[in-house]
Amino acid sequence: MRDVILMAAMLAAAGGAGAQQVRGADIYKSSCAMCHQDQGQGAAGVAPPLKGSQWAKLARVRNYAPGVLLAGMHGPLSTDEGTFNGVMPTQNRLNDEEIAAVTAYLVSDIAGQNGAPVVVAADVAALRARPQSVAELRAVRKQALAK
Ligand code: HEC
Repeated sequence: MRDVILMAAMLAAAGGAGAQQVRGADIYKSSCAMCHQDQGQGAAGVAPPLKGSQWAKLARVRNYAPGVLLAGMHGPLSTDEGTFNGVMPTQNRLNDEEIAAVTAYLVSDIAGQNGAPVVVAADVAALRARPQSVAELRAVRKQALAK
């Protein structure tokens, strides 16, 4: 019991970032893993990987992942694991904090891009107020990967 309290105190002391990471992992498990798989490796014919060489580039575009979470995605996507042409439903039922938390988890833990900039809840609120369309997000993706 004492250890549990100590652990909780340590987590609290570690501050927002640590707590957000834990929360992001939970959201990923319950809202994303059924399609993108446990480690974000994706599955042929179901959903693309969220890691690999492309994510070294995509993770650097701050608004891309949260934009996809708000707008969803469809149309052919070429990835490290071949071309996907599915439909990702919007995840806009997640609140701003949840989208920020799962984005941080995606960028640093799944894609392994620790230094990449991530959004906070206020950024997600701003994106939600001026949503990017799927067509805009696809153009952003294409440009990021061409670099
Ligand atoms: C019902 C299945 C499903 C769920 C649930 C889902 N996705 Fe997706 N996701 C897809 C599919 C399918 C695509 C590719 C769509 C296409 O082919 O254009 C995609 C695309 C993406 C992309 C763009 C990938 C790229 O290479 O540009 C991101 C980022 C993403 N998903 C993140 C997430 C996250 C994070 C969650 C959980 C909050 C999530 N998805 C939940 C099916 C899903």
